[in-house]
Amino acid sequence: METQHIDSPITSFYRNKSVFVTGATGFLGKVLVEKLVRSCEVKHIYILLRSKRGKSVERRLEEFIQNDVFSACDPIKLSSTIIALDGDLTQEGLGLSSSDRQKIIDEVSIVFHSAASVRFDDPLKDCLTTNVKATKWVLELCQDIANLEVFVHVSTAYAYCQKPISGEVIYPMQVNVDEMLEASETMDNETFEKMYSKYFEDRPNTYTFTKALAEQYLKNHGKGITIGIARPSIITATWKEPVPGWGDTVNGPSGACLLGSLGIARTMYFKPNCISDLIPADTVVNGLIAIGWYMANTHAGQSNGEKMKVFNLTSGETNPVTWEQFLSYGREAAVESPSLQMLRPPVKVMQGNHVSRFDHLITKYFSELLFAYLIDCILFILGQQRRLVRLVGKMHSGFELLTYFARRQWSFPCDNFNQLSDSLTEEDKLKFNIDISTINWRNYTHRLYLGIRKYLLKEEDSTIPEAKKRMTWIYIGYYLVQFSFLSIIMYIFCKPLFRLFLH
Ligand SMILES: NC(=O)c1ccc[n+]([C@@H]2O[C@H](COP(=O)([O-])OP(=O)(O)OC[C@H]3O[C@@H](n4cnc5c(N)ncnc54)[C@H](OP(=O)(O)O)[C@@H]3O)[C@@H](O)[C@H]2O)c1
Repeated sequence: METQHIDSPITSFYRNKSVFVTGATGFLGKVLVEKLVRSCEVKHIYILLRSKRGKSVERRLEEFIQNDVFSACDPIKLSSTIIALDGDLTQEGLGLSSSDRQKIIDEVSIVFHSAASVRFDDPLKDCLTTNVKATKWVLELCQDIANLEVFVHVSTAYAYCQKPISGEVIYPMQVNVDEMLEASETMDNETFEKMYSKYFEDRPNTYTFTKALAEQYLKNHGKGITIGIARPSIITATWKEPVPGWGDTVNGPSGACLLGSLGIARTMYFKPNCISDLIPADTVVNGLIAIGWYMANTHAGQSNGEKMKVFNLTSGETNPVTWEQFLSYGREAAVESPSLQMLRPPVKVMQGNHVSRFDHLITKYFSELLFAYLIDCILFILGQQRRLVRLVGKMHSGFELLTYFARRQWSFPCDNFNQLSDSLTEEDKLKFNIDISTINWRNYTHRLYLGIRKYLLKEEDSTIPEAKKRMTWIYIGYYLVQFSFLSIIMYIFCKPLFRLFLH
Protein backbone atom coordinates (compact mmCIF):
# COMPACT_ATOMS: atom_id res chain seq x y z
CA MET A 1 0.00 0.00 0.00
CA GLU A 2 1.30 3.42 -0.87
CA THR A 3 1.93 5.66 2.15
CA GLN A 4 0.04 8.89 1.88
CA HIS A 5 2.27 11.96 2.18
CA ILE A 6 0.55 14.63 4.21
CA ASP A 7 2.00 17.94 3.15
CA SER A 8 2.79 20.38 5.90
CA PRO A 9 1.16 23.79 5.27
CA ILE A 10 4.41 25.63 6.00
CA THR A 11 6.53 23.45 3.72
CA SER A 12 4.00 23.65 0.92
CA PHE A 13 3.96 27.45 1.29
CA TYR A 14 7.74 27.69 0.85
CA ARG A 15 8.18 24.90 -1.71
CA ASN A 16 9.82 26.04 -4.97
CA LYS A 17 9.72 29.68 -3.96
CA SER A 18 12.77 31.91 -3.93
CA VAL A 19 13.74 33.77 -0.81
CA PHE A 20 15.98 36.80 -0.21
CA VAL A 21 17.88 36.81 3.09
CA THR A 22 20.03 39.55 4.58
CA GLY A 23 22.36 38.73 7.47
CA ALA A 24 22.74 35.12 6.30
CA THR A 25 26.34 34.94 7.54
CA GLY A 26 25.34 36.03 11.05
CA PHE A 27 24.60 33.77 14.01
CA LEU A 28 20.84 33.74 13.41
CA GLY A 29 21.12 33.95 9.61
CA LYS A 30 23.10 30.70 9.35
CA VAL A 31 20.47 28.77 11.32
CA LEU A 32 17.74 30.36 9.18
CA VAL A 33 19.37 29.46 5.85
CA GLU A 34 20.08 25.93 7.09
CA LYS A 35 16.46 25.35 8.05
CA LEU A 36 15.15 26.84 4.79
CA VAL A 37 17.37 24.45 2.82
CA ARG A 38 16.72 21.36 4.95
CA SER A 39 13.02 21.67 5.67
CA CYS A 40 11.35 24.14 3.33
CA GLU A 41 12.21 22.86 -0.14
CA VAL A 42 12.76 26.41 -1.39
CA LYS A 43 14.00 26.97 -4.94
CA HIS A 44 16.73 29.54 -4.34
CA ILE A 45 17.97 31.52 -1.38
CA TYR A 46 19.55 34.78 -2.49
CA ILE A 47 21.81 36.07 0.25
CA LEU A 48 23.19 39.58 0.51
CA LEU A 49 26.92 39.20 1.01
CA ARG A 50 29.66 41.79 1.23
CA SER A 51 33.38 41.33 0.76
CA LYS A 52 35.04 41.61 4.14
CA ARG A 53 38.57 41.65 5.58
CA GLY A 54 40.15 41.10 2.17
CA LYS A 55 37.86 38.18 1.34
CA SER A 56 35.84 38.34 -1.86
CA VAL A 57 32.13 37.49 -1.96
CA GLU A 58 32.92 34.21 -3.79
CA ARG A 59 35.43 33.18 -1.13
CA ARG A 60 33.05 34.09 1.68
CA LEU A 61 30.30 32.05 0.04
CA GLU A 62 32.61 29.00 -0.16
CA GLU A 63 33.47 29.34 3.52
CA PHE A 64 29.83 29.96 4.43
CA ILE A 65 28.67 26.72 2.82
CA GLN A 66 31.38 24.77 4.63
CA ASN A 67 30.25 26.01 8.05
CA ASP A 68 29.54 23.19 10.50
CA VAL A 69 25.95 24.41 10.91
CA PHE A 70 25.23 22.86 7.49
CA SER A 71 26.51 19.39 8.39
CA ALA A 72 22.97 17.91 8.19
CA CYS A 73 22.35 19.38 4.69
CA ASP A 74 23.05 17.73 1.37
CA PRO A 75 26.10 19.68 0.05
CA ILE A 76 24.93 19.54 -3.57
CA LYS A 77 21.50 20.86 -2.65
CA LEU A 78 23.16 23.50 -0.51
CA SER A 79 25.39 24.86 -3.27
CA SER A 80 22.63 24.81 -5.87
CA THR A 81 20.14 26.57 -3.56
CA ILE A 82 22.24 29.38 -2.12
CA ILE A 83 23.17 32.25 -4.43
CA ALA A 84 25.27 35.12 -3.12
CA LEU A 85 24.55 38.65 -4.27
CA ASP A 86 27.28 41.21 -3.75
CA GLY A 87 25.91 44.00 -1.57
CA ASP A 88 26.33 46.05 1.55
CA LEU A 89 23.77 47.37 4.02
CA THR A 90 25.48 50.73 4.19
CA GLN A 91 25.32 51.40 0.45
CA GLU A 92 22.40 53.09 -1.31
CA GLY A 93 19.95 50.40 -2.48
CA LEU A 94 21.95 47.82 -0.45
CA GLY A 95 24.76 48.23 -3.01
CA LEU A 96 23.13 45.69 -5.33
CA SER A 97 23.99 45.78 -9.04
CA SER A 98 21.00 46.52 -11.25
CA SER A 99 21.02 42.98 -12.65
CA ASP A 100 21.04 41.43 -9.14
CA ARG A 101 18.28 43.77 -8.05
CA GLN A 102 16.24 42.74 -11.08
CA LYS A 103 16.82 39.07 -10.26
CA ILE A 104 15.29 39.63 -6.82
CA ILE A 105 12.40 41.63 -8.26
CA ASP A 106 11.59 38.90 -10.80
CA GLU A 107 12.16 35.77 -8.77
CA VAL A 108 11.81 36.35 -5.04
CA SER A 109 8.51 36.18 -3.18
CA ILE A 110 9.64 36.05 0.47
CA VAL A 111 12.14 38.36 2.20
CA PHE A 112 13.86 37.90 5.57
CA HIS A 113 15.76 40.95 6.80
CA SER A 114 18.02 39.79 9.61
CA ALA A 115 21.18 41.82 8.94
CA ALA A 116 21.99 44.53 11.43
CA SER A 117 24.75 45.96 13.50
CA VAL A 118 24.28 44.29 16.88
CA ARG A 119 27.12 46.22 18.52
CA PHE A 120 25.54 48.14 21.36
CA ASP A 121 28.10 50.94 21.26
CA ASP A 122 28.24 51.89 17.57
CA PRO A 123 28.16 55.66 16.91
CA LEU A 124 24.57 56.79 16.35
CA LYS A 125 24.99 57.80 12.72
CA ASP A 126 26.65 54.51 11.72
CA CYS A 127 24.05 52.51 13.56
CA LEU A 128 21.28 54.52 11.90
CA THR A 129 22.68 53.65 8.49
CA THR A 130 23.07 49.93 9.17
CA ASN A 131 19.85 49.40 11.06
CA VAL A 132 17.42 52.00 9.71
CA LYS A 133 18.53 53.14 6.25
CA ALA A 134 19.19 49.51 5.29
CA THR A 135 15.65 48.61 6.43
CA LYS A 136 14.37 51.46 4.25
CA TRP A 137 16.27 50.04 1.25
CA VAL A 138 15.00 46.51 1.94
CA LEU A 139 11.45 47.88 2.09
CA GLU A 140 11.94 49.79 -1.17
CA LEU A 141 13.16 46.58 -2.77
CA CYS A 142 10.11 44.74 -1.43
CA GLN A 143 7.86 47.43 -2.92
CA ASP A 144 9.38 46.67 -6.33
CA ILE A 145 9.17 42.89 -6.08
CA ALA A 146 6.55 41.70 -8.53
CA ASN A 147 5.20 38.75 -6.52
CA LEU A 148 6.08 39.60 -2.95
CA GLU A 149 4.08 37.53 -0.49
CA VAL A 150 5.67 38.55 2.77
CA PHE A 151 8.51 40.54 4.31
CA VAL A 152 9.77 39.26 7.68
CA HIS A 153 11.78 41.86 9.55
CA VAL A 154 13.96 40.80 12.51
CA SER A 155 13.79 43.36 15.28
CA THR A 156 14.44 42.93 19.00
CA ALA A 157 12.24 42.54 22.06
CA TYR A 158 14.34 45.33 23.62
CA ALA A 159 13.44 47.96 21.01
CA TYR A 160 11.31 49.63 23.71
CA CYS A 161 13.39 48.47 26.67
CA GLN A 162 12.64 51.73 28.51
CA LYS A 163 9.19 50.19 29.09
CA PRO A 164 8.96 47.39 31.68
CA ILE A 165 6.06 45.91 29.70
CA SER A 166 6.63 45.75 25.97
CA GLY A 167 3.67 44.37 24.05
CA GLU A 168 3.42 43.41 20.39
CA VAL A 169 2.84 47.01 19.42
CA ILE A 170 4.93 49.63 17.62
CA TYR A 171 4.87 52.35 20.29
CA PRO A 172 5.07 56.00 19.26
CA MET A 173 8.49 57.66 19.55
CA GLN A 174 9.39 61.24 20.38
CA VAL A 175 11.47 61.62 17.24
CA ASN A 176 10.47 61.60 13.60
CA VAL A 177 12.44 58.89 11.83
CA ASP A 178 12.18 60.56 8.40
CA GLU A 179 13.55 63.85 9.72
CA MET A 180 16.35 61.97 11.39
CA LEU A 181 17.27 60.12 8.20
CA GLU A 182 17.27 63.40 6.32
CA ALA A 183 19.43 65.10 8.94
CA SER A 184 21.94 62.26 8.84
CA GLU A 185 22.66 63.13 5.19
CA THR A 186 23.92 66.60 6.01
CA MET A 187 25.06 66.69 9.65
CA ASP A 188 28.47 65.64 10.86
CA ASN A 189 28.67 62.80 13.38
CA GLU A 190 29.18 64.98 16.43
CA THR A 191 26.33 67.42 15.76
CA PHE A 192 24.05 64.56 14.80
CA GLU A 193 24.83 62.66 18.00
CA LYS A 194 24.28 65.81 20.11
CA MET A 195 21.01 66.59 18.41
CA TYR A 196 19.44 63.13 18.49
CA SER A 197 20.79 61.28 21.52
CA LYS A 198 18.27 63.19 23.64
CA TYR A 199 15.54 61.13 21.98
CA PHE A 200 16.77 57.79 23.35
CA GLU A 201 13.94 57.92 25.94
CA ASP A 202 16.09 56.10 28.53
CA ARG A 203 17.25 53.40 26.17
CA PRO A 204 20.80 52.39 27.09
CA ASN A 205 22.39 52.29 23.63
CA THR A 206 22.25 53.16 19.95
CA TYR A 207 21.34 49.57 19.04
CA THR A 208 17.96 49.45 20.79
CA PHE A 209 17.18 53.02 19.66
CA THR A 210 17.84 52.33 15.98
CA LYS A 211 16.00 48.98 16.07
CA ALA A 212 12.94 50.89 17.31
CA LEU A 213 13.45 53.52 14.59
CA ALA A 214 13.53 50.79 11.93
CA GLU A 215 10.13 49.57 13.15
CA GLN A 216 8.81 53.14 13.02
CA TYR A 217 10.03 53.42 9.45
CA LEU A 218 8.20 50.22 8.47
CA LYS A 219 5.05 51.42 10.21
CA ASN A 220 5.14 54.75 8.37
CA HIS A 221 6.11 53.49 4.94
CA GLY A 222 5.24 49.79 4.79
CA LYS A 223 1.59 50.20 3.87
CA GLY A 224 0.51 47.79 1.18
CA ILE A 225 3.21 45.24 2.05
CA THR A 226 2.55 42.20 4.24
CA ILE A 227 5.08 42.57 7.04
CA GLY A 228 5.77 40.38 10.05
CA ILE A 229 8.02 41.98 12.63
CA ALA A 230 9.72 39.38 14.81
CA ARG A 231 11.07 40.53 18.15
CA PRO A 232 13.32 37.89 19.73
CA SER A 233 14.75 38.46 23.20
CA ILE A 234 18.31 37.22 23.87
CA ILE A 235 19.13 34.62 21.22
CA THR A 236 21.22 31.72 22.46
CA ALA A 237 22.61 28.49 20.97
CA THR A 238 20.29 26.01 19.27
CA TRP A 239 18.05 23.80 21.36
CA LYS A 240 17.61 20.88 18.94
CA GLU A 241 18.28 21.81 15.32
CA PRO A 242 20.31 21.25 13.25
CA VAL A 243 22.29 19.96 16.24
CA PRO A 244 21.82 20.81 19.92
CA GLY A 245 24.02 23.56 21.30
CA TRP A 246 25.22 25.01 17.99
CA GLY A 247 26.27 28.63 18.19
CA ASP A 248 29.11 30.79 16.96
CA THR A 249 28.64 33.87 19.07
CA VAL A 250 30.51 34.80 22.23
CA ASN A 251 28.20 37.74 22.84
CA GLY A 252 25.91 37.81 25.84
CA PRO A 253 25.07 34.78 27.99
CA SER A 254 27.12 32.31 25.91
CA GLY A 255 30.23 34.42 26.49
CA ALA A 256 29.50 34.58 30.23
CA CYS A 257 29.05 30.83 30.32
CA LEU A 258 32.23 30.21 28.30
CA LEU A 259 34.47 32.51 30.34
CA GLY A 260 32.94 31.32 33.61
CA SER A 261 33.57 27.69 32.66
CA LEU A 262 37.26 28.43 32.04
CA GLY A 263 37.62 30.17 35.40
CA ILE A 264 38.34 33.54 33.76
CA ALA A 265 35.03 35.27 34.63
CA ARG A 266 34.41 35.36 38.40
CA THR A 267 31.80 38.08 38.72
CA MET A 268 29.02 39.87 36.92
CA TYR A 269 27.09 42.87 38.19
CA PHE A 270 23.67 41.33 37.75
CA LYS A 271 20.49 40.52 39.63
CA PRO A 272 20.49 36.76 40.08
CA ASN A 273 16.71 36.57 40.58
CA CYS A 274 15.81 38.52 37.43
CA ILE A 275 14.43 36.60 34.48
CA SER A 276 17.03 36.27 31.73
CA ASP A 277 14.76 36.18 28.72
CA LEU A 278 16.63 33.64 26.58
CA ILE A 279 15.40 32.10 23.35
CA PRO A 280 17.23 29.39 21.39
CA ALA A 281 18.23 30.28 17.82
CA ASP A 282 16.32 27.35 16.27
CA THR A 283 13.11 28.40 18.07
CA VAL A 284 13.59 31.92 16.67
CA VAL A 285 14.20 30.57 13.17
CA ASN A 286 11.14 28.30 13.30
CA GLY A 287 9.24 31.36 14.51
CA LEU A 288 10.48 33.50 11.58
CA ILE A 289 9.55 30.83 9.04
CA ALA A 290 6.15 30.34 10.67
CA ILE A 291 5.57 34.11 10.75
CA GLY A 292 6.26 34.26 6.98
CA TRP A 293 3.69 31.55 6.32
CA TYR A 294 1.13 32.93 8.79
CA MET A 295 1.29 36.54 7.59
CA ALA A 296 1.12 35.58 3.92
CA ASN A 297 -1.89 33.35 4.56
CA THR A 298 -3.87 35.43 6.99
CA HIS A 299 -2.95 39.05 6.35
CA ALA A 300 -2.09 39.44 2.67
CA GLY A 301 -5.70 40.14 1.72
CA GLN A 302 -6.32 42.60 4.55
CA SER A 303 -6.68 46.32 4.17
CA ASN A 304 -3.49 48.38 4.36
CA GLY A 305 -3.52 49.04 8.09
CA GLU A 306 -3.92 45.35 8.94
CA LYS A 307 -1.05 44.00 6.92
CA MET A 308 1.60 44.40 9.61
CA LYS A 309 1.90 42.45 12.83
CA VAL A 310 4.50 42.27 15.60
CA PHE A 311 5.45 38.99 17.29
CA ASN A 312 7.38 38.77 20.56
CA LEU A 313 9.61 35.70 20.37
CA THR A 314 10.41 35.53 24.05
CA SER A 315 10.41 32.96 26.84
CA GLY A 316 9.87 34.94 30.05
CA GLU A 317 6.07 34.84 30.02
CA THR A 318 5.79 31.15 29.10
CA ASN A 319 8.80 29.43 30.63
CA PRO A 320 10.98 31.76 32.69
CA VAL A 321 14.55 31.08 33.75
CA THR A 322 16.52 33.41 36.02
CA TRP A 323 20.13 34.51 35.51
CA GLU A 324 21.12 32.59 38.59
CA GLN A 325 19.53 29.38 37.28
CA PHE A 326 21.05 29.77 33.82
CA LEU A 327 24.56 30.50 35.11
CA SER A 328 24.38 27.76 37.76
CA TYR A 329 23.31 25.19 35.16
CA GLY A 330 26.21 26.38 33.00
CA ARG A 331 28.65 25.96 35.89
CA GLU A 332 27.22 22.52 36.67
CA ALA A 333 27.80 21.48 33.03
CA ALA A 334 31.33 22.93 33.05
CA VAL A 335 32.27 20.87 36.09
CA GLU A 336 30.64 17.76 34.65
CA SER A 337 32.39 18.10 31.27
CA PRO A 338 35.30 20.49 31.81
CA SER A 339 37.31 22.12 29.08
CA LEU A 340 40.95 21.30 28.43
CA GLN A 341 41.55 25.04 28.51
CA MET A 342 40.21 25.57 32.06
CA LEU A 343 42.53 27.82 34.07
CA ARG A 344 40.76 27.85 37.43
CA PRO A 345 37.75 26.08 38.94
CA PRO A 346 34.53 27.87 37.93
CA VAL A 347 33.11 29.93 40.82
CA LYS A 348 29.72 29.35 42.42
CA VAL A 349 27.06 31.68 41.03
CA MET A 350 25.83 34.45 43.34
CA GLN A 351 22.33 34.02 44.69
CA GLY A 352 19.53 36.24 45.96
CA ASN A 353 18.33 39.48 44.54
CA HIS A 354 21.42 41.58 44.71
CA VAL A 355 25.16 41.42 44.01
CA SER A 356 27.07 43.99 46.05
CA ARG A 357 28.83 46.52 43.82
CA PHE A 358 31.78 46.55 46.22
CA ASP A 359 32.25 42.76 46.10
CA HIS A 360 31.82 42.87 42.35
CA LEU A 361 34.53 45.51 41.87
CA ILE A 362 36.98 43.81 44.24
CA THR A 363 36.54 40.51 42.39
CA LYS A 364 36.70 42.22 39.02
CA TYR A 365 40.03 43.93 39.64
CA PHE A 366 41.75 41.46 41.96
CA SER A 367 40.49 38.04 40.98
CA GLU A 368 40.08 38.74 37.27
CA LEU A 369 42.43 41.52 36.14
CA LEU A 370 45.29 40.86 38.55
CA PHE A 371 45.05 37.16 37.81
CA ALA A 372 45.22 37.92 34.09
CA TYR A 373 48.40 40.01 34.60
CA LEU A 374 49.91 37.17 36.62
CA ILE A 375 49.19 34.57 33.93
CA ASP A 376 50.47 36.88 31.18
CA CYS A 377 53.68 37.43 33.19
CA ILE A 378 54.18 33.67 33.41
CA LEU A 379 53.49 33.33 29.68
CA PHE A 380 56.00 36.14 28.99
CA ILE A 381 58.66 34.36 31.05
CA LEU A 382 57.92 31.14 29.16
CA GLY A 383 58.29 33.03 25.87
CA GLN A 384 54.65 32.51 24.91
CA GLN A 385 52.04 34.90 23.56
CA ARG A 386 50.29 36.99 26.24
CA ARG A 387 46.55 37.13 25.73
CA LEU A 388 44.69 37.09 29.00
CA VAL A 389 44.84 40.78 29.94
CA ARG A 390 43.40 41.71 26.54
CA LEU A 391 40.73 39.07 26.82
CA VAL A 392 39.73 40.15 30.32
CA GLY A 393 39.58 43.78 29.13
CA LYS A 394 37.22 42.76 26.34
CA MET A 395 35.21 40.65 28.77
CA HIS A 396 34.79 43.61 31.13
CA SER A 397 33.53 45.86 28.32
CA GLY A 398 31.16 43.11 27.13
CA PHE A 399 29.80 42.53 30.64
CA GLU A 400 29.43 46.28 31.12
CA LEU A 401 27.13 46.40 28.08
CA LEU A 402 25.18 43.39 29.34
CA THR A 403 24.69 44.85 32.83
CA TYR A 404 21.63 46.91 31.84
CA PHE A 405 19.87 43.75 30.63
CA ALA A 406 21.07 41.52 33.48
CA ARG A 407 19.79 43.86 36.21
CA ARG A 408 16.30 44.38 34.86
CA GLN A 409 13.32 42.28 34.04
CA TRP A 410 10.73 42.79 31.35
CA SER A 411 7.33 41.47 30.57
CA PHE A 412 6.79 40.70 26.89
CA PRO A 413 3.14 39.80 26.33
CA CYS A 414 2.97 37.50 23.32
CA ASP A 415 -0.67 37.09 22.28
CA ASN A 416 0.13 37.32 18.56
CA PHE A 417 2.84 34.73 18.89
CA ASN A 418 0.53 32.42 20.87
CA GLN A 419 -2.16 32.84 18.23
CA LEU A 420 0.36 31.90 15.56
CA SER A 421 1.45 28.84 17.61
CA ASP A 422 -2.15 27.70 17.94
CA SER A 423 -2.70 27.95 14.19
CA LEU A 424 0.06 25.44 13.34
CA THR A 425 -0.97 21.94 12.33
CA GLU A 426 0.34 19.02 14.40
CA GLU A 427 2.88 18.24 11.69
CA ASP A 428 4.15 21.81 11.56
CA LYS A 429 4.31 21.91 15.36
CA LEU A 430 6.83 19.08 15.11
CA LYS A 431 8.66 20.32 12.05
CA PHE A 432 8.83 23.97 13.08
CA ASN A 433 8.80 23.66 16.85
CA ILE A 434 8.09 26.97 18.58
CA ASP A 435 6.72 25.55 21.79
CA ILE A 436 8.84 27.38 24.34
CA SER A 437 6.95 25.82 27.26
CA THR A 438 8.66 22.46 26.65
CA ILE A 439 12.22 23.77 27.08
CA ASN A 440 13.88 22.22 30.11
CA TRP A 441 16.38 24.96 30.92
CA ARG A 442 18.76 22.70 32.81
CA ASN A 443 19.02 20.25 29.87
CA TYR A 444 19.17 23.13 27.44
CA THR A 445 22.00 24.89 29.28
CA HIS A 446 23.98 21.64 29.46
CA ARG A 447 23.58 21.33 25.68
CA LEU A 448 24.55 24.96 25.22
CA TYR A 449 27.70 24.41 27.27
CA LEU A 450 28.63 21.25 25.34
CA GLY A 451 28.09 23.29 22.16
CA ILE A 452 30.43 25.99 23.46
CA ARG A 453 33.02 23.29 24.17
CA LYS A 454 32.67 21.78 20.72
CA TYR A 455 32.03 24.72 18.41
CA LEU A 456 33.78 27.60 20.13
CA LEU A 457 36.59 25.88 22.04
CA LYS A 458 36.96 23.23 19.29
CA GLU A 459 37.18 20.36 21.77
CA GLU A 460 35.65 17.00 20.87
CA ASP A 461 33.49 15.20 23.46
CA SER A 462 36.04 12.36 23.48
CA THR A 463 38.47 14.68 25.33
CA ILE A 464 36.16 14.99 28.38
CA PRO A 465 37.83 12.18 30.43
CA GLU A 466 41.27 13.75 29.89
CA ALA A 467 39.89 17.19 30.81
CA LYS A 468 38.37 15.76 34.01
CA LYS A 469 41.77 14.44 35.11
CA ARG A 470 43.30 17.81 34.33
CA MET A 471 40.54 19.54 36.33
CA THR A 472 41.36 17.44 39.41
CA TRP A 473 44.93 18.81 39.29
CA ILE A 474 43.60 22.33 38.76
CA TYR A 475 41.46 22.00 41.91
CA ILE A 476 44.43 20.62 43.89
CA GLY A 477 46.73 23.38 42.62
CA TYR A 478 44.09 26.06 43.23
CA TYR A 479 43.48 25.04 46.85
CA LEU A 480 47.23 24.65 47.48
CA VAL A 481 47.87 28.17 46.19
CA GLN A 482 44.99 29.51 48.29
CA PHE A 483 46.26 27.67 51.37
CA SER A 484 49.84 28.93 50.87
CA PHE A 485 48.61 32.47 50.31
CA LEU A 486 46.46 32.43 53.45
CA SER A 487 49.33 30.91 55.46
CA ILE A 488 51.68 33.72 54.38
CA ILE A 489 49.06 36.35 55.29
CA MET A 490 48.45 34.68 58.64
CA TYR A 491 52.16 34.49 59.28
CA ILE A 492 52.70 38.19 58.48
CA PHE A 493 49.81 39.38 60.62
CA CYS A 494 50.27 36.93 63.47
CA LYS A 495 54.08 37.18 63.67
CA PRO A 496 53.96 39.78 66.50
CA LEU A 497 51.52 37.56 68.41
CA PHE A 498 53.80 34.49 68.03
CA ARG A 499 56.70 36.56 69.30
CA LEU A 500 54.67 37.71 72.28
CA PHE A 501 53.76 34.14 73.24
CA LEU A 502 57.25 32.77 72.68
CA HIS A 503 58.85 35.33 74.97
N1 LIG B 1 21.77 37.97 18.83
C1 LIG B 1 20.76 38.31 19.61
O1 LIG B 1 20.73 37.99 20.81
C2 LIG B 1 19.58 39.07 19.04
C3 LIG B 1 18.48 39.32 19.87
C4 LIG B 1 17.38 39.98 19.34
C5 LIG B 1 17.37 40.37 18.03
N2 LIG B 1 18.46 40.12 17.24
C6 LIG B 1 18.41 40.53 15.85
O2 LIG B 1 18.65 39.39 15.05
C7 LIG B 1 19.31 39.77 13.85
C8 LIG B 1 20.52 38.90 13.64
O3 LIG B 1 21.40 39.04 14.73
P1 LIG B 1 22.70 38.12 14.87
O4 LIG B 1 22.88 37.83 16.29
O5 LIG B 1 22.64 37.02 13.88
O6 LIG B 1 23.83 39.17 14.44
P2 LIG B 1 25.27 38.89 13.80
O7 LIG B 1 25.72 37.51 14.10
O8 LIG B 1 26.13 40.01 14.20
O9 LIG B 1 25.00 38.99 12.24
C9 LIG B 1 24.80 40.20 11.61
C10 LIG B 1 24.61 39.96 10.14
O10 LIG B 1 24.39 41.22 9.52
C11 LIG B 1 25.33 41.34 8.45
N3 LIG B 1 25.76 42.71 8.23
C12 LIG B 1 26.14 43.62 9.17
N4 LIG B 1 26.54 44.74 8.57
C13 LIG B 1 26.43 44.53 7.24
C14 LIG B 1 26.70 45.31 6.09
N5 LIG B 1 27.17 46.56 6.20
N6 LIG B 1 26.45 44.78 4.88
C15 LIG B 1 25.97 43.52 4.75
N7 LIG B 1 25.69 42.73 5.80
C16 LIG B 1 25.94 43.23 7.02
C17 LIG B 1 26.53 40.52 8.86
O11 LIG B 1 27.29 40.22 7.71
P3 LIG B 1 28.89 40.04 7.72
O12 LIG B 1 29.13 38.58 7.96
O13 LIG B 1 29.30 40.49 6.39
O14 LIG B 1 29.42 40.89 8.82
C18 LIG B 1 25.84 39.32 9.48
O15 LIG B 1 25.43 38.44 8.47
C19 LIG B 1 19.61 41.25 13.99
O16 LIG B 1 18.65 41.96 13.28
C20 LIG B 1 19.49 41.52 15.47
O17 LIG B 1 19.10 42.84 15.72
C21 LIG B 1 19.57 39.48 17.71
